[in-house]
Amino acid sequence: MLRQSITGTILVADDQAPNRELLEELLTPHGCKVVTVPDGAAALEELTRTRFDLVLLDVMMPHLNGFEVCEKIKNNPDTYLIPVIMITALSDKQDRIEGIKAGADDFLTRPLDRTELLARVRSLLKLKQRTDELERAESVLFSLARSIEGKDPYTHGHCERLSDYSTRLGEHLGLSEDQLIALRRAGIVHDVGKIAVPDAILLKPGSLTADEWKLIREHPTVGERICAPLKSFRFVLPIIRHHHEKFDGSGYPDGLRGQDIPITARVLQVVDVYDALTTDRPYKKAFSITDALQTMKQEVEKGWWDAHVFAAFERLVGSRTADFLSRGAAAGQ
Ligand SMILES: [Fe+2]
Repeated sequence: MLRQSITGTILVADDQAPNRELLEELLTPHGCKVVTVPDGAAALEELTRTRFDLVLLDVMMPHLNGFEVCEKIKNNPDTYLIPVIMITALSDKQDRIEGIKAGADDFLTRPLDRTELLARVRSLLKLKQRTDELERAESVLFSLARSIEGKDPYTHGHCERLSDYSTRLGEHLGLSEDQLIALRRAGIVHDVGKIAVPDAILLKPGSLTADEWKLIREHPTVGERICAPLKSFRFVLPIIRHHHEKFDGSGYPDGLRGQDIPITARVLQVVDVYDALTTDRPYKKAFSITDALQTMKQEVEKGWWDAHVFAAFERLVGSRTADFLSRGAAAGQ
């Protein structure tokens, strides 16, 4: 049964050469590709070069120890989905607690038990396979959203900027990790429902008829339906559905008011408006940052956007950390 193949690329980080060789000898015959490194810093460097399905980390290593490496893996959006097994000394409870805090997915104790090692590796590689399938489904949605964005040359890069700005604003407001991940995804897919709007309407230069507006106003609910089957999008759906609500209840599709509009949707709205104002559109030139903020302030006073979220955004723009916000904006503060 143990000969059953296990496929995946595994990174082994251990400062003791015999330990690295042992793991390589145990895993390679079962179909795994094993890459070994002697310390934590080398592990992080290797992770930028190769796509791994699993990482095995020794706790005691020079430069960066196993906990530090694990924490960095779990805090990096490019690597946080890679399962990590920490190899600790037998029954060292404190190591396990540290490992859990650092985000480790599983533990193995020395001396290594071959059967246990293979069972845990197999189970985490299976989990990674499922995560990859899910990621593929997500990337189909992202491609679809980007192709819709690509129809309009004036909105080029809008999705990426929205994703970036709204995550930073969400962080600034102290939103949870789940909400930040949802904002990153929503920045890309929030307008995916526009797939149901014909190009002739989507790209129409003149004003729209009442029927055309009706169709445009359906894009949040259509987008929500498209993304609904993906469980990992459960925090993204409210953002898609409510990104055109207004604080005074005059928005669509549900006419939600104030705090009833999910905070994540209110965050996306503020950066969406900012990005629209600070980039060229067929009907207007890009506003300067100052003019954009002034216009948004007037819209907050009209009751459209959340004053608290806007104030946080204004602070963020004013702070030194916000150079990124001027990327799409017109020159001249
Ligand atoms: Fe939209």
